Amino acid sequence: MSSSRAQSFIHTVLQNSANPAPLSIVKPNGHGQAPVNIALSKYWGKRDAELNLPINGSVSISLPGLGTTTQISVFEGNEDWISLNGKTLPAGDKFAKRLSAFLGWFRKSSTTAFKVDTTNSVPTAAGLASSASGYAALVFALDDLFGWQLSKSQLSLLARFGSGSASRSVYDGFAIWHKGDSDNGLDSFAEEINVTWPEFTIGLVKVDTQEKSIGSTLGMQQTVETCDLYQSWPQQAERDIHNIHQAILNKDFTTLGKTAEHNALSMHATMIATWPPIVYWQPESVAAMHVVWQLRENGVEVYFTMDAGPNLKLILLDTDKQAVLNAFKEINRPIEFIQPFKG
Ligand code: PMV
Repeated sequence: MSSSRAQSFIHTVLQNSANPAPLSIVKPNGHGQAPVNIALSKYWGKRDAELNLPINGSVSISLPGLGTTTQISVFEGNEDWISLNGKTLPAGDKFAKRLSAFLGWFRKSSTTAFKVDTTNSVPTAAGLASSASGYAALVFALDDLFGWQLSKSQLSLLARFGSGSASRSVYDGFAIWHKGDSDNGLDSFAEEINVTWPEFTIGLVKVDTQEKSIGSTLGMQQTVETCDLYQSWPQQAERDIHNIHQAILNKDFTTLGKTAEHNALSMHATMIATWPPIVYWQPESVAAMHVVWQLRENGVEVYFTMDAGPNLKLILLDTDKQAVLNAFKEINRPIEFIQPFKG
C-alpha cells in the first residue's frame, strides 16, 4: 500500500482535522468502540482495490452492544504491538499485518509504532464478521488519539479504506453506504438512516464459526473476474438498496424482508457461478433456509440473509420470536435474538 492516490485520499480526509498537525497525538491513549453490522442489501465487488471502492452501494443494520472495543497508543519502535482478545499477535500474523499496513498511513515517522489492544464482543452463537466493527473502532480510536474530531462521514471514509463494510459500522441503527462515483474515493461513505424500529429483530443462527474458506476480498475479485452472472448484479443491487431504503422509511417489513433475502441469494448465486466455485453454504445452512421457508408457508413472516460464511441471520418482528425459536428447536439450532433499537 504505497500508492500516491491512497496517500492523497488520506491527506484530503485529514485536512478536515481539528488538529493542525494531524499525525501528532493529543493524549496518551485513544479509545474507540463500534458495533458489528449486517447488510440487508450486500456489497459484493470492488471497482478500485487501491482505494477500496465498491461497484455497488449497500444498506445495513448495526447490532449495538456487539462489536469491537479498541485502545491505541504510540511508542518509539520498528514494529507495532497488537493484541486481539487478550492475546498478543506474532508479527507475521495475517490480521496483524493487515492492521499494521492500515496504521502505516497514520505514522508520523518510520520509528512511530502503535500499541493496539482490541477486543471483540460477539455472542457465542454469532459467526459474525468482526472486520467491520474492528476497522470502525480503530478509526474512532485514532480520531481520539490524534484529536481529529472528524465528522461521522469522514470517519466512515477512513473506515471504508480499511474494510468496506466498516464504513457502515460507524453508525448505530440503519445505514446506507453510497458507492460514490469519483475516482478519488471521497464520495464513497455511509450515512445514517434516521429511523427507530423497536420491533425490528435479528436472529443469529450459528452453523459454523470457523474462519471462512475464502476471504471476502479474494471472493469478490474472483466473482468479478470469472462470473458471467455478475453482469446483472450492480443493477439489482442499486434497485434493492432503493427498495430497502424506502421500506425502512415506511416500516414496510414485508418489502424489506423479501428484498433482503432475494438480494442475499442473488449475491450467493454470483459466488457459486464463479470458477473455481465459491460455496459458503453447508448442508445445515440449507436445512435452516427450509425452516424459514416452512415458517413463511405457515404464516410466520421471517426472512434470512447470509454473508461470506455458512451462518444465517434471520430478519423478523419481535412478535414472531417464539414461533421462530420453536421451529428451529426441531432441528436443534439455538437462536440468539437481538433487537437493535431496544436497549
Ligand atoms: O467489508 P468486507 O471486505 O468484509 O466485505 C463484506 C462482504 C459481505 O459481508 C458479504 C457483504 C456486506 O455488505 O457486508
